[in-house]
Amino acid sequence: MSGRSLLDGLGEITEVGRDRRRGGWSRHLGDDGEVQLREWFRERAARLGLDVETDRNGNLWAWWGTPGPDAVVTGSHLDSVPGGGEFDGPLGVVSALEAVARLKAAGVVPTRPVAVIVFAEEEGSRFGRACLGSRLMTGDIDPALVRSLHDAHGVPFDRAAAAAGFDPAQIGADPEALARIGLFLELHVEQGRGLIDLDSPVAVASSILAHGRWRLRFEGEGNHAGATRMRDRRDPLVAAAAGVLEVRTAAAALDARATVGRIEATPGGTNVIASRAEFWLDARADSDAQTRDLVSRIAEQAAAAARAEGCTVEVVEESWSGEVRFDPALRNRLSAALGVVPALPSGAGHDAGILAAHVPSAMLFVRNPTGISHAPDELAELADTVRGVDALETVLRGLL
Ligand code: GLV
Ligand code: MN
Ligand code: MN
Repeated sequence: MSGRSLLDGLGEITEVGRDRRRGGWSRHLGDDGEVQLREWFRERAARLGLDVETDRNGNLWAWWGTPGPDAVVTGSHLDSVPGGGEFDGPLGVVSALEAVARLKAAGVVPTRPVAVIVFAEEEGSRFGRACLGSRLMTGDIDPALVRSLHDAHGVPFDRAAAAAGFDPAQIGADPEALARIGLFLELHVEQGRGLIDLDSPVAVASSILAHGRWRLRFEGEGNHAGATRMRDRRDPLVAAAAGVLEVRTAAAALDARATVGRIEATPGGTNVIASRAEFWLDARADSDAQTRDLVSRIAEQAAAAARAEGCTVEVVEESWSGEVRFDPALRNRLSAALGVVPALPSGAGHDAGILAAHVPSAMLFVRNPTGISHAPDELAELADTVRGVDALETVLRGLL
């Protein structure tokens, strides 16, 4: 297919899940947009003659040939962060479909099964757990815990799963699905300035930073904004604000990365001193030990900030992904197929990182000329997306 039809793939879904309030796109497990994207994928894959199935954990598989074992599986995800960009996830799915379409059109007859996969809830934006579909499949997360989750509006996971078309009672480790994967390849838009600096349209991933998510819950005393003297207050939002500043200080001191992108005050009234304030911490560093060290420093500083305000704080880990180093043998095969392409570490997490602990996995990155991701200005130029599909097609040819 031409560059035009690749763009069409993204163009067909560009209005799906547009977030007029925040800007960008909001597509989360089981919401209207995500359900529509699942339908779009089924239809697109069926048009290519692929057989589509939904596994026990809500991941979609489009098969070229009889399902597994030793399948070459490629794809990504269709969900987004709130108000996110257009390419994080969908570019890998559209590129995988495009590469398969090209191979079919060229008369390639694979010697092993091929599947295009869409992982469910990769961003973890609705239920707080990143890479939910791949983690459930690999057994890296307890299905009972997942069934107990609620979104920010109190909607239970079960309802979202049902809306997305899978049975929440059946979720959990799926060794049969996993055993079908001979290797996994994920093409993804690059999410920082890596390929701008290297002046290259594509790269092969070398590693992923260790990272995780923690919820910090500060408890104080709800009270009246006008009737309570400043010296009598125990304001958890003040303690949380001090905690946020400590997050930045600790990450800078350790040359790591830490972010607070979400904060909530309860009950949330303008003339009410909050009784509770919560923020979510995203922390990342080169190694597991450095990331753990960063989070324990932040937890200590948050506890000190809480004490100073007469409040308490509880720190709960919601998600953890250890450092990933991608399979050297598979990386070498990619490099041999593609010639001179740079290797790039990833600051972002991916389903390929979860699968890497179980099956040989690799990633291809496509240049992002804005260097911005998880925001509406995320971009991949048409010429670079074509280079990305060229690379994926070349690699797949060599593996089939
Ligand atoms: C996902 O993109 C993440 O890195 O959080
Ligand atoms: Mn993302
Ligand atoms: Mn992604």
